[in-house]
Amino acid sequence: MKTRSVYVCQECGYRSLKWLGKCPSCGAWGALVEEIERGDDTKRTEHRALEPVPLTSIAQTTVERLRSGIEEFDRVMGGGIVPGSVTVIGGDPGVGKSTLMLQLCARFAQRNPLYITGEESLEQIHYRAQRLGIEQEGILVLTEQAVEDIAATIASQAPGIVIIDSIQTMYGRQLESLSGSIGQVRYCAAQLVQVAKQTGIPIFLVGHVTKEGMLAGPKVLEHMVDVVIQFEGEGNYAYRILRAIKNRYGSTNEIGVFEMSKCGLAEVRNPSTLFLSDRATPAPGTAVTAVIEGSRALLVEIQALVMQSGYGMPQRVTTGFDYKRLQMLIAVLERRLGLDFIRCDVFVNIAGGFVLRDPGADIAVCAALVSALHNRTIAERVVAIGEVGLTGELRQVSSMDTRLNEAAKLGFSSAVVPPAVPIQSVGIELCTAYNLSEALTKLVM
Ligand code: TYD
Ligand code: MG
Repeated sequence: MKTRSVYVCQECGYRSLKWLGKCPSCGAWGALVEEIERGDDTKRTEHRALEPVPLTSIAQTTVERLRSGIEEFDRVMGGGIVPGSVTVIGGDPGVGKSTLMLQLCARFAQRNPLYITGEESLEQIHYRAQRLGIEQEGILVLTEQAVEDIAATIASQAPGIVIIDSIQTMYGRQLESLSGSIGQVRYCAAQLVQVAKQTGIPIFLVGHVTKEGMLAGPKVLEHMVDVVIQFEGEGNYAYRILRAIKNRYGSTNEIGVFEMSKCGLAEVRNPSTLFLSDRATPAPGTAVTAVIEGSRALLVEIQALVMQSGYGMPQRVTTGFDYKRLQMLIAVLERRLGLDFIRCDVFVNIAGGFVLRDPGADIAVCAALVSALHNRTIAERVVAIGEVGLTGELRQVSSMDTRLNEAAKLGFSSAVVPPAVPIQSVGIELCTAYNLSEALTKLVM
């Protein structure tokens, strides 16, 4: 079988034997990507009818998942690593992907994990392992970039698990383009997927998310692999969130929380404590809510600052909160409650660098705003949960009992909530509010 490389336009499918900046067919710029074309000598001419099977006749096979014992990791993976699966772990450079993967290897040391790096020297890996206190025997390390050799090595060594760090540094000899290009990334991943499926060895592909590389980053691999997890973190904060983006074997809502310390990533079993400030008594402009991340609830503190603006347009600045949602909530407060933010600058910040996406935080954001506007504190040990509608009505949000239980666990004594909360939660007093104005009377002292 002869192979040759062709350049295929990702927009219209135009094929060219050499690379072109602009596609002559559709005019798209930079859309030609190198691919390997197999010159099929024996073109099949006959067709055969295939035999579909009834869905109910398929025997259920239970796969034994490999549990690392790092609970925050296993949960995101859907309960452990599935044999023969390929997982992409994406994230910004420096977030801690290599660290997490090396710690994972340590947990599987008795299965002879193979850590292949195309980015670092063996000494650098050794140094990192020392820093992480990894002393287990059994972890194999290799520096290599040629994917064909890597595939052969995996087949001959038969390790229990393989880490490729990173997919952007790997290359296939048959392609002319540089490693890191879309063609190379896709080709190398396809080779490794094949190896994983043939051998049943789970493979992890580390993928950097780079600014221009959204293209050649984990995104282009999403459809080829079984699981895509993303490692997120703000530079200034030590905590890291591992999030499932795609999971053929589990839920994609799950998150795992870690903290980067001097000796590696530590699991954070109770993330709520991360996002609440240590202050003993409430300060004006702060309110606490409970949000849902995956199957868990997290308590989050919202901080607002309202001050008279200088000249021109008043400012609305948010960190970790949707800017448009803030504008909407301010509009509701002005229109339905007659409050005046017109000549005020408004700042909203979510403590601890958390990014709030849950509408259940609405009441708490409004409470923080009003508390800041009137310079009055919020009632102590009270959490506010619920969505605010345009008429100022309060709406129920999902998993209310999970949220209330988390609040109770952290010592909150009461919760301001929309009507019709199923009263299953224990240890927390429910204060039902029918509209925003009622909620704020209960919250702001
Ligand atoms: P790394 O795993 O190399 O990130 P990535 O592979 O995603 O690019 O780790 C990045 C940062 O983590 C690095 O700046 C140093 C820091 N770090 C610690 O704080 N503690 C540690 O024990 C280790 C190994 C790294
Ligand atoms: Mg790295």
